[in-house]
Amino acid sequence: MHDFLCALHQELMPMREGKLAGYIPQLCDVDPDRFGISVATVDGRFFEVGDHGQLFTLQSISKPLVYGLALETVDPGALDDRVSVEPTGDPFNSIVKLDSTARPHNPLINTGAIAVADLIRGEGLEDRFAKIADVLEGYFGRPVEVDEDVYASERRTGDRNRAIAHLLRQFGRLEGPLDESLDLYFRQCSVEVCAHDLALAGATLAHAGVNPVSGRRVLKDRHVSSVLSLMLSCGMYDYSGQWAYRVGLPAKSGVGGGVCVVVPGKMGIGVYSPRLDGRGNSARGIAAVEAISQHYGLHIFGRDSQCAAWDGVGASPPEDRE
Ligand code: DON
Repeated sequence: MHDFLCALHQELMPMREGKLAGYIPQLCDVDPDRFGISVATVDGRFFEVGDHGQLFTLQSISKPLVYGLALETVDPGALDDRVSVEPTGDPFNSIVKLDSTARPHNPLINTGAIAVADLIRGEGLEDRFAKIADVLEGYFGRPVEVDEDVYASERRTGDRNRAIAHLLRQFGRLEGPLDESLDLYFRQCSVEVCAHDLALAGATLAHAGVNPVSGRRVLKDRHVSSVLSLMLSCGMYDYSGQWAYRVGLPAKSGVGGGVCVVVPGKMGIGVYSPRLDGRGNSARGIAAVEAISQHYGLHIFGRDSQCAAWDGVGASPPEDRE
């Protein structure tokens, strides 16, 4: 695995497609050529190459993780009333439409994520953020910190997200203090991570919600399938359909340049490369994960992934591989 990752890293290093996320000024203050890949297995081993320890901000990768916290802490009816689980095919910051029941389509676009952040309740911003930080620490296995410059930058330039929050309140999908809930969302997006952390978070989801290094249960296993289904159908924004088709793995990208991927029962993959394609996904990140999935036959509907299921019922796969 390590040799393959080194060769892949070298092969993709010259790739220069994509641009930094200019709409949050502070996100342009990074070296665009950084590139790190980390793989964490469900038995706690790591294979890493390049800038796998380089810190950047979590951004939208926080969305499925915070949605997991909502699954654990919010009444299921109230959560369902707040946000649906349908892919949109629209860009991540789309403001134009809620679904026919005036709910955000899913928790992995900004409308849905802001509605979900509003449901994480507590005594003020610090207390509410402490609940999110605790869960993130469970996934990453270490204390988390907020990049205060990115946080300030998001707050300063977050007019679109502010508009979304007002729209949500108008439709009764945001009932807490609006500015505080928005700040909570901006804070969760501004948490610092590296590719190593994302690989471990992916491995935790691949390991039925238990962090394979610390042994801490971060998410109940009945909620893991809910989070992974959303990551598969909605995790890469308006590229999600093509991603599911070509790569076939639950994943989530963020405009900080990170991608977090789950290979159920096997491993997590974290990639960092900050140049983004037109949809806000890391351009090199997509190329790297696609190559890893193909090389190791990781697509969840692929033959290799299904062998265990055939084993389970005492059947064997057809012998010819076509
Ligand atoms: O709300 C925003 O626009 C950012 N804090 C997060 C968006 C994001 O990461 C979209 N990712 N591809």
